[in-house]
Amino acid sequence: MTINLIPYDTQNHAEASELAAVLSQYYPTSPWLPSVEKIMQGGTAYFRAILGDEQIGITGYVSKTPTLAETVKTTIFSAHRGRGLGQRLSQAIEDECRRRGIRKVMTTIFSSNHAMIAIKLKQGYTIEGYHRDHEAPGFHEYSLGKVLS
Ligand SMILES: CC(C)(COP(=O)(O)OP(=O)(O)OC[C@H]1O[C@@H](n2cnc3c(N)ncnc32)[C@H](O)[C@@H]1OP(=O)(O)O)[C@@H](O)C(=O)NCCC(=O)NCCS
Repeated sequence: MTINLIPYDTQNHAEASELAAVLSQYYPTSPWLPSVEKIMQGGTAYFRAILGDEQIGITGYVSKTPTLAETVKTTIFSAHRGRGLGQRLSQAIEDECRRRGIRKVMTTIFSSNHAMIAIKLKQGYTIEGYHRDHEAPGFHEYSLGKVLS
């Protein structure tokens, strides 16, 4: 079964609020979670990940240039983890970027997030940098990138 990506309407206050609540649930230690107001300002395309008739996660991307996108917040809800859906969702947001003309995708991942780093490496991403105290002091990240063929 395919994971379908359905865009959040981030101009809609109820949808932006729902998204902000999901982000604070799944990124409780993140120092810079976007507020509802920030989400509504736009700039990041967020999607519901739908499998069958159920939402199993979220994902998103930011266009950095017309051909470069940063994927963000690829998340599988807790009840659905460990079944390969993280890999499939990572692939789905990459495919979405490709469809929109993106030629390179990149992402930053906390150095402690071995699950997502493993997923990206298996999908052909390479580590392009290690950034100490990056998002905030004490939050070390890798950046990983992939040129799309
Ligand atoms: C990261 C995340 C999306 C993985 O979702 P998932 O559905 O459990 O992942 P999968 O079942 O597809 O696992 C895929 C691979 O990840 C790796 N993996 C999973 N959990 C791991 C762990 N705890 N440590 C190391 N590798 C792990 C394995 O290589 C696994 O492949 P395998 O089953 O062939 O061995 C999920 O844990 C999540 O939503 N985390 C919180 C949000 C987050 O951190 N997102 C990334 C932001 S950059």
